[in-house]
Amino acid sequence: MISIVGAGKVGSAAAFNILRFRISDIVLIDVAGELAEGEALDMMQAAPAIEFDGKVRGTNDFSEMEGSEVTVIVAGAGRKLGMTRPDLARTNRKIVESIVKQVVKYAPECKLMIVTNPVDAMTYVAYKESGFERNRVFGMGNILDTIRFRSYIAAELNVSREDVRALVMGEHGDSMVPLVDYATVSGIPIKDLLEAEQIEKIVNLTKTSGSEVIKLKGATTYAPAVEIAVAVDAVLRGRNRVMSVSTFLQGEYGLSDISIGVPVVLGKNGVERILELELSPEAQRHFVESASIIKAMIDTYGYT
Ligand code: 2OP
Repeated sequence: MISIVGAGKVGSAAAFNILRFRISDIVLIDVAGELAEGEALDMMQAAPAIEFDGKVRGTNDFSEMEGSEVTVIVAGAGRKLGMTRPDLARTNRKIVESIVKQVVKYAPECKLMIVTNPVDAMTYVAYKESGFERNRVFGMGNILDTIRFRSYIAAELNVSREDVRALVMGEHGDSMVPLVDYATVSGIPIKDLLEAEQIEKIVNLTKTSGSEVIKLKGATTYAPAVEIAVAVDAVLRGRNRVMSVSTFLQGEYGLSDISIGVPVVLGKNGVERILELELSPEAQRHFVESASIIKAMIDTYGYT
């Protein structure tokens, strides 16, 4: 069983994906009155049509998360155009801290996945507040950046998205670092298939893809929701998937006391291990810049 805290669009869509993919039973929690209960009821009414037997329960009572193997925190204000990240960090920090207190009380053994933005800073807050081992606290941003990167590569080459493999690391935000050198189509480096200008276009599209959706419809839903399901599946089924998540570093990549997206093996224990890749000088420079942006954000809201 897992719990999802936050029954807004992303949280409830993630719950529905997890049911449809038959990954887990779910407790969906939201402090807003009966919202989670209503979402759960709606989903269960859909169940016979797509023949899933999993259960979802909606509640505003945190004690119902007891026994969760994974807790996903989605609650908080969304990323809006024009809002500064430190502003968002200040608002959401309080929300994340109060939810983490409940998690520590009711599901102290769980793996904790943070989706609330700005996700790297919120993962740091959750790690510090929970006191959990660092492998059990991770943020999901770069998984989402990576599917966007893959989808733009596939579109540019007109090949199946399934055959495109790639990684993005760094901040889940404008300073993210799509790793061009590690992107392949069935093992063929994209540098052998695309011109430099095409790659630059794809990298820029990837970086602005979330903001573009926010500009058009006010928020993102389907892409984050499906990636929450993918990450939960990796942990619950112990699949040891290789993907980038925000994780607390202790010297890896020359960084400490920061949560930032890096490639990891994601399995039963959460972050099973961190993969330290050799980066091109350009990627290294961008990654260092990205880390300084996250550090500045953490300093701005003064977490101690
Ligand atoms: C996204 O990139 C807003 O972080 C969210 O979809």
